[in-house]
Amino acid sequence: AQGLHDAATAAGKKYFGTELSGYVMSDAEANEIAKNAQDFGQYTCENEMKFDALQPSQDAFNYDGADQIVAQAEANGQIMRCHTLVWHNQVPSWVKDGGFDKNALIEIMKNHIANVVGHYKGKCYAWDVVNEALNEDGTYRSSDSVWGSTIGPEFIPIAFAAAAEADPDAKLYYNDYNCDRPGAKATGALNLIKMVQDAGAPIHGFGMQGHLTTGQVGDASQYVENMQAFAALGVEVAFTELDIATPAGSPDFNQQAADYATVVSACKQVEACVGITTWGFTDRYTWIGDSAPLIWDKDLQKKAAYDAIINAWSA
Ligand code: G3I
Repeated sequence: AQGLHDAATAAGKKYFGTELSGYVMSDAEANEIAKNAQDFGQYTCENEMKFDALQPSQDAFNYDGADQIVAQAEANGQIMRCHTLVWHNQVPSWVKDGGFDKNALIEIMKNHIANVVGHYKGKCYAWDVVNEALNEDGTYRSSDSVWGSTIGPEFIPIAFAAAAEADPDAKLYYNDYNCDRPGAKATGALNLIKMVQDAGAPIHGFGMQGHLTTGQVGDASQYVENMQAFAALGVEVAFTELDIATPAGSPDFNQQAADYATVVSACKQVEACVGITTWGFTDRYTWIGDSAPLIWDKDLQKKAAYDAIINAWSA
């Protein structure tokens, strides 16, 4: 029987994958689905590779939670997208409230990257080096980011250069939400990538998170157009956190299935799109509560989206 990942690779893509957490792994029935490499050829850790999880206090690195997910991937022949090195969220208080000046914070960031990327050297297909550094209007996030407000946008190329030094073979991504279609924020992301390139630092990919809503997805052409604009800068693209919410009171699982198929079809049409990762796989475990955004329901039964995705890869 062909699965989600098998269908993606048959269409020439590297992977179809899912976000996974220690929480889901401790649910044996759910974890059986995650382990099926015919459906999932790739994992992203939900929270286990974030700054607060890996370096909760200064220089005290804790890799236990993330290592368990990487070990399960290795046991099943699945690859890792690694998420994420520098983000304004889930930063431990010793960093956020430490009162560090610009140079001290740059050293903290570089030290974190060297340790973490070094620890996982050779094990990450890709790293989300910088996550969500843009405001909705495409300007650089500052007031609510310790990195942006203390260092300024130059933290971005510094982070990419540090990641490249620690693992020259990993694909280094900028990752953000609401950049899935052309618009002010997507333009900001294009400019961010040019800025990193102009600074002489390596950048290889753009991650469209893809947190979408059923009925508002539209048609594939706008996603295709967006991906092509990034590909023109010489980077690959991927959907990195796809989920498609449907209203809790009146869910429409057929529309949701059609919307999943739209995203798959867009990725299929663009050579630079290497794969799709969903932000979880069962509605039993999702960051958006009751909006049933995923492919298996709370009882771990496949929803209409499952066959729609396979058919869209095969179309
Ligand atoms: O760490 C504490 C833990 O100590 C405590 O026991 C527990 C009690 O509720 O809370 C834990 O923190 C939670 C953390 O997940 C780990 O479970 C936070 O409250 C909660 O806010 C956090 O949510 C995560 C969210 O990122 C944080 O912004 C979600 O699980 C995770 O799915 C979500 O993922 C993000 C991507 O990384 C980036 N793009 C958007 C996406 C969805 O928001």
